[in-house]
Amino acid sequence: CADLRGKYIADTIRDVPDYPSKGVVFRDITTMLADPKALRYSIDLLHERYENYGLTQIVAVEARGFLFAAALADRLGIGITLIRKEGKLPRDAYREEYALEYGESALELHKDALTHRDRVVVMDDMLATGGTMSAAIDLIQKTEATIVEAAFVAELLYLPGRKRLAEKGISSYAMVAYD
Ligand code: PRP
Ligand code: ADE
Repeated sequence: CADLRGKYIADTIRDVPDYPSKGVVFRDITTMLADPKALRYSIDLLHERYENYGLTQIVAVEARGFLFAAALADRLGIGITLIRKEGKLPRDAYREEYALEYGESALELHKDALTHRDRVVVMDDMLATGGTMSAAIDLIQKTEATIVEAAFVAELLYLPGRKRLAEKGISSYAMVAYD
């Protein structure tokens, strides 16, 4: 990691082999969240990166993305738009099905949550296969909002997430990378 704060954050994340299924190394951020310095550093890095982008909303991906999006949006003085797992949003919503490293699901976004006037960063904790973030991007694009970047605490370079998002014309930022 270029920034020493990235290294500090990386050292607080725990590897859990064979969770939730055999062959998957789960990168557990609960220990990172519990470390006040790691948590502060993560929001500092995001804030420094995005403070001059003219963002109007942080789009937050359920569930762990919510945590970082909330803190970042508050620092930037902007709001949070939620992308939720299916069946949780009460009003008319767009829906996208997707596969992830260990299963499949669907994401939803309220149809009136964003407009073409919005400039957003989409926030999640982890970029693995990119299935989740691809679905999130497809949802946001239906609203015609501008996606500045997809942001993550960590990315798994041995999976095709970054490449998949690049193919959609979306750049990715991650504070920690796993080879
Ligand atoms: C995890 C993680 C990302 C996604 C990344 O979420 O928080 O959202 O997987 O994987 P992908 O790049 O292969 O799609 P998960 O669906 O496990 O749910 P949670 O955040 O609600 O715990
Ligand atoms: N989401 C998808 N793959 C993951 C992994 N290996 N660790 C943590 N979160 C994930």
